[in-house]
Amino acid sequence: MFEDPSLGHIDAPNLTPGKGGIGKDYTDADWVRSLRHGVGPDGKPLLVMPSADFYNLSDQDLGDIIAALKSLPPVDKEMQDPALTPLGQVLLSAGAFGDIIDAERIDHNGPRPTPVAPGATAAYGDYLVRTVGCRTCHGANLSGGKDPDPKAPPAPNLTQSGDLRNWSEADFLTAARTRKSEFMPWKDLSRMTDDELKVIWLYLQSQSKR
Ligand code: HEC
Repeated sequence: MFEDPSLGHIDAPNLTPGKGGIGKDYTDADWVRSLRHGVGPDGKPLLVMPSADFYNLSDQDLGDIIAALKSLPPVDKEMQDPALTPLGQVLLSAGAFGDIIDAERIDHNGPRPTPVAPGATAAYGDYLVRTVGCRTCHGANLSGGKDPDPKAPPAPNLTQSGDLRNWSEADFLTAARTRKSEFMPWKDLSRMTDDELKVIWLYLQSQSKR
């Protein structure tokens, strides 16, 4: 995920049940704690893990994701535990990587978000934007923000005062299908259906200038 000699490294773990993978030891409760709460089985917060976004996933969607993770074929691959140098830790507490400790931001005992039925509504677009995590990079108001990767450029303003005011729905779908970026997860968006991309677009259109 991230490696810099002066700052340290954060590996994203092997999720499969293979050698070195967390999948072989994880119980359902461990998956829920990691995905929804950003807390590992050892009780420590997971770094960079976007659980504040996944917290919004419905029980059904989270359950389906866990089922998919549990059916991953085993891959043997040892990964290192994350380690930051003293400089990396100072920068982390100064917020230089953005908010990468989601466990500190989640209201763990709060009421669950109200489920949203899939459909061609801005409300469902809002659900997808929340769960995919556009706000992690594009900011709480989607008006531009900081990608957690220190090498990334600022994530642009997605409201009606940014570049998107000149985009059409078709431009957004084409971008999702064709654009490539080291930072913007176009690759993940490209796997969404046209209907899913269209409701995300509908929701973005409903965002007033910020
Ligand atoms: C991991 C961080 C990250 C996430 C998550 C993310 N973005 Fe981005 N996005 C970026 C960065 C950084 C850029 C600008 C650099 C680039 O395009 O390579 C960008 C660019 C864009 C652009 C192009 C804007 C322009 O003016 O060209 C659009 C549109 C966009 N993002 C929409 C979204 C939407 C919608 C979501 C959620 C479904 C999302 N992004 C999630 C980091 C992110």
